[in-house]
Formats: sequence, structure tokens, C-alpha cells
Amino acid sequence: MATPGGSFLSNKYLIRFCVFVFLTTLCSLEKGYALSLTERSADSTNSVHDHTHHTVQLNSLLPAKTCSPSTRGHDNKKASLEVVHKHGPCSKHNQHKTKIPTHTQILQEDQARVNSIHARLNGDELRQSDTSIPTKSGRVLGSPNYIVTLGLGSPPRQLSLVFDTGSDLTWTQCQPCVKSCYQQNEPIFDPSLSKSYTNISCKSPVCSLLKSATGNTPLCATGTSTCIYGIQYGDQSFSIGYFAKDSLTLTPTDLFDGFLFGCGQDNEGLFQGSAGFLGLGRNKISLIEQTAQKYGRFFSYCLPSTPSSTGYLSFGRGGEGPSNNAKFTPLTTVSQGGSFYGLNVVGIIVGGRQLSIPASVFSSSGAIIDSGTVITRLQATAYSALRDAFRQGMTGYPQAEAFSLLDTCYDFSRNNTISFPTIAFAFGGGVKLDLDASGIFVVVSTSKVCLAFAGNSDDSDFAIFGNVQQKRLQVVYDVAGGKIGFAPAGCP
Ligand SMILES: *[C@@H]1O[C@H](CO)[C@@H](O)[C@H](O)[C@H]1NC(C)=O
Ligand SMILES: *[C@@H]1O[C@H](CO)[C@@H](O)[C@H](O)[C@H]1NC(C)=O
Repeated sequence: MATPGGSFLSNKYLIRFCVFVFLTTLCSLEKGYALSLTERSADSTNSVHDHTHHTVQLNSLLPAKTCSPSTRGHDNKKASLEVVHKHGPCSKHNQHKTKIPTHTQILQEDQARVNSIHARLNGDELRQSDTSIPTKSGRVLGSPNYIVTLGLGSPPRQLSLVFDTGSDLTWTQCQPCVKSCYQQNEPIFDPSLSKSYTNISCKSPVCSLLKSATGNTPLCATGTSTCIYGIQYGDQSFSIGYFAKDSLTLTPTDLFDGFLFGCGQDNEGLFQGSAGFLGLGRNKISLIEQTAQKYGRFFSYCLPSTPSSTGYLSFGRGGEGPSNNAKFTPLTTVSQGGSFYGLNVVGIIVGGRQLSIPASVFSSSGAIIDSGTVITRLQATAYSALRDAFRQGMTGYPQAEAFSLLDTCYDFSRNNTISFPTIAFAFGGGVKLDLDASGIFVVVSTSKVCLAFAGNSDDSDFAIFGNVQQKRLQVVYDVAGGKIGFAPAGCP
């Protein structure tokens, strides 16, 4: 049986929320929606780079224990926010209150996110059947580890949110946490303390925007008629609550009245360490669209090379970008996953040599760029070519056993200086992007340093340009101009 509305999972969560939460306020279900009720429940700044190899000190690949923030001024006149790694020493709120996930967990969550992205891009969400695997639906967020702090409400309350180009709805945990809130480091947002907070009514046209933004049909609280959103991220993580609006303060001078967001009353799963999410996708309710008048759908960010450093997220052309040396490639539109930013990969260069991968391998499925996917995924054929070429350049080092989804690992524990092939991507428009030295490995330990790429099991699935590979690059999204730019060494 096909579901007319959202997925089974979403129904499950929303219904659960309604049953357990609205003891006094009944949820009214849309027709058809109810049908499925019972279905189922390296700091490498010192690296030497000769176009064919990076040569770095082993120590530079390891994260430092103390924070050395970017000295780049965070001029308040610019709409620029500091980006920190959720679990690193630069996260002000990371006082060992939250558990730091293991590398194994991070990679498992990353795979769950990738499965969910592929499901969305393949349209599985829309034609989900009884036999589909529940974890394939939803907005799986994996480990999108980078957070920014902004203000919500009047007076503004500081909240640290994970920013995510792969989703659209911004939400934060909200008092009174009717059903459940996980532990967060800042006080949980309390709408009753904000003079400008308003619930969105189900009758409001913006309530219906939630369907395309979250994949779930919104519900309606009878009596108060408050619009209820539900967003689930697979592996049991979800947020459900009131769709609302309030003032958003990005910087002291950049304030947006009536910013639409989710006021989460039931938030469960793998969100620890942040107060919620900041959706930077292409859908109407994303931050980019809601601030389009002021910033013209233009933003850029730089993800720091290690958790012990900081980067930035800037909005508008007057922000921190674009640097003059950014090279732009056309931004493509991905039909099924309307919120994703599409990229046109045309080639891969390892150690200065272009791999012989037929163009059809890249063009038959396509690629997106995502701030929340950790490890870049490539078509199986492209990945094996990359891996083989990389291994050939690494024969001087002892190999280590595969780790999780990473099959090319090395034991560097007895080498002080490491030399490894450069990796570059060729994009449409004649753009060649050299990855930073910090964007090639995942360091599990000095005796297990792994190539941070993986192949898709299905050649028809999209490639995903992930956040390890984006490290230190200034990534410029000129959405209005239909292009994405990259510049080297945007942050430490
Ligand atoms: C928002 O809606 C919820 C659910 O109907 C209600 O409990 C809450 O009081 C409302 N808040 C405001 C400020 O109207
Ligand atoms: C790295 O260390 C191993 C173990 O001592 C050694 O066999 C290998 O030659 C070293 N590799 C390089 C490139 O120095």
C-alpha cells in the first residue's frame, strides 16, 4: 500500500507524538494520512605541496587539545558567524557534558545519512511501500558536526545550531518540552520569554510548505489550530513540535522578524551537543530563502582543518566572501531532491594525473555537495580508480586493516613525515579544485589513517562531495547566480 501523505516513519512519529503528548489537545489527522496509522511503527597549514604530493608532519594530522581560533577578524559589520566543530575544544559549550561519538559511530551515522540522501534523490520517499526499509526515508543527518551560534527571540537567546546544506527546516528544542528534550548545553529556548514569538496556524499557507521541506504532511492541533511539523532523520532521530515564527538575530546588525522555525517539543536521537539545526537547503523555508531579500541567496563557509580551529559561515556578498581567487562551476538542480545543491563532477586527478574514468560514470547519476556528509561518496567505478591510484602512491607505507566503510588505511605510527598524493576534482566549467592536505584522510589513530572516500554500492546513486573534502576551502554558494565557487585556504 502506498502512503498518500508522508512516509510511514513520519506518520509513526507524528502519531506517537499526538498520542503521548496531546492529552488535552487532540491532533486532527488529514484524510488518507490516517490510513497508515498502524503500518509500523590535520592542521596542515605547514604542508609542502608540489602538485603531485603533500608532505606533512604526522603531528599535523592529529587534533590539538586546545583551541586556536582563526585570527581572521569576525567583524560584526559583516554577516559572518564563527563555525566550530561540535565536539572540539573550540566549542564553548563542549564541557564534557556530551558524549563524543566514536569514529565507528560517526561513520555509521554518515552511512545512514547517505542512504537517506540516496533514497530522497531516487524518489523512494514518494513511492515507499510496505516492504521498504524504514531507515531509508527521512532527512538522516548523520554527523553534520559543524555548529554556529545565533540569537532567537526578543530579547535574543543564544543557540548553537548544526548548520546543514542538506536540509531546510531550522528547528530548536523548545520549552516546555511537552514530550522530550535531550540534554543541551545552553538553556532550552522558552517561547514564553520572547515578546515576538508566534505560533503558525494550520490555515496559514506557510504551514503547507512543510510538506516539501520535511517530506511529512504537517498536522494540526485542534482547539488551538497550531501547525505541527515533524522531521525525522532515520536511525530514530527526530524532532516534532510547533511550527512558529520569531525574530532571528544572525549578527547584532542583521535581524530578521518573523523567521519560520520549528519549536521542538519532542526531540530524540543523535543531536547531542547542539540546540537543533539550521537548514541551509534550497527549499522555500530554508534560511537562505527566508533571508533572500537581504542576502540575495548568497552565502559562503569555510570548515576548519581540525576541531581545534575555527571557520566561518557568512551571508551576502558583503560577507567574508567571495575571495578574488574563487573559481566557479555551475550549480545544478537535482530534480527529486529539490533542496540539494548539485555539482557537475567531470574528472578526478590523483598525484597530478587524471584518472581514466569514462565521463558517463559521472554523468549518469550526478553529484551533490553536502555540508553534513562526512566522507565523499563516489560512483563505484570512480572510487576504485581513485583508490588504486592513491594506493600506488602509498607503497612506501605499511597498510592497516580497513576501518568501517574506509578500505584504504595506513599505519603511520613509525613515520614522522608523511608524503601522499594530491587529489583534485575537475568540475564543469573547466574548474579544477585541489583538495587541501587536511581533506584527504580520516585519522582514527596514528596506526590507522584512512583515505576519506568511499564508493557507492550502486553505480546509479549520486556522488556526494562531503565535508572532510571541503576542509579549509572557502565554498561560495551563489544560488541566485547559479554557481558554486571554491578558493583554497579560506580558514586555518
Ligand atoms: C502554541 O501552540 C501550542 C499548541 O497548541 C500551545 O500550547 C502554546 O501555548 C502556543 N503558544 C503560544 C505563544 O501561543
Ligand atoms: C615508514 O615507516 C615504516 C616502518 O618503520 C618503514 O618501513 C617505511 O619505509 C617508512 N616509510 C617511509 C616512506 O618513510
